[in-house]
Amino acid sequence: MSLKENIHIDRLPNHIAIIMDGNGRWAKEKGEDRLFGHLHGVESVRDIVEGCAELGVKYLTLYAFSTENWDRPAYEVSGLMELLIDTIRKEVPVLNKNNIRLHMIGDSTMLPENARRELKEALDETSGNTGLNLIMALSYSSRWEIVNTVQQIAEAVKEGKLEPKDISQNTIQQYLTTSAFPDPELMIRTSGEYRISNFLLYQLAYSELYFTNTLWPDFRKENLYEAIIDFQNRERRFGKTGDQIKKGQKTANH
Ligand code: IPE
Ligand code: IPE
Ligand code: MG
Repeated sequence: MSLKENIHIDRLPNHIAIIMDGNGRWAKEKGEDRLFGHLHGVESVRDIVEGCAELGVKYLTLYAFSTENWDRPAYEVSGLMELLIDTIRKEVPVLNKNNIRLHMIGDSTMLPENARRELKEALDETSGNTGLNLIMALSYSSRWEIVNTVQQIAEAVKEGKLEPKDISQNTIQQYLTTSAFPDPELMIRTSGEYRISNFLLYQLAYSELYFTNTLWPDFRKENLYEAIIDFQNRERRFGKTGDQIKKGQKTANH
């Protein structure tokens, strides 16, 4: 039986988030420049997007560039930006063909003008698609997002639209850049690093975390299936006891 057949389609994670890490080390192992790793990382993006769309996953968030990544050497940053622009331009017809809608989270004001323009076009051109929602985290960090959220809430209070006592978890959710998406149920990080690196700190509160040593340019559908199967074998308790969860499942099944 293939890995894919072991996936319970009725219990798919609705939202998968991935920290795509290890491009630089992958290139280094091959005696190549880091940008060579990023270039091959795009192949993995294509394969995983296709894999998620085929399975019927509704939301996929990919951490492509963090706020902190701006501090990398200038040649790597500009190489990554060029790759980003080039990839978006090439992929829009594929996204449309596969009914995939592109979204972006992050500080777009930091992006070069041509990247912003290309992105805006891609967002507009795919906005009518109703299949997989592909959310690119670009120039994103969770602390940036939280600061941004707090500023907007403060603004709403100042304008008299909101009373401080009425601020709830719901309010915060509505002001986050991810307000249109459910929280990820599964978060995958490649390359053997066991950290979150400023990614969706609020939204990952109850996500299942999956870490693999596979470097991002080697990560393919089969690796995704393994992560999903692992996820499906876990018991998500949300603070309750295991017995409570089992009882709930029994009642739901009868
Ligand atoms: C992830 O790979 C891609 C980005 C952060 C843009 P890295 O470039 O971080 O690769 P390593 O971690 O140095 O191997
Ligand atoms: C996290 O990877 C950011 C992205 C994958 C875009 P990094 O390689 O930047 O993270 P650290 O520096 O190892 O924590
Ligand atoms: Mg890295």
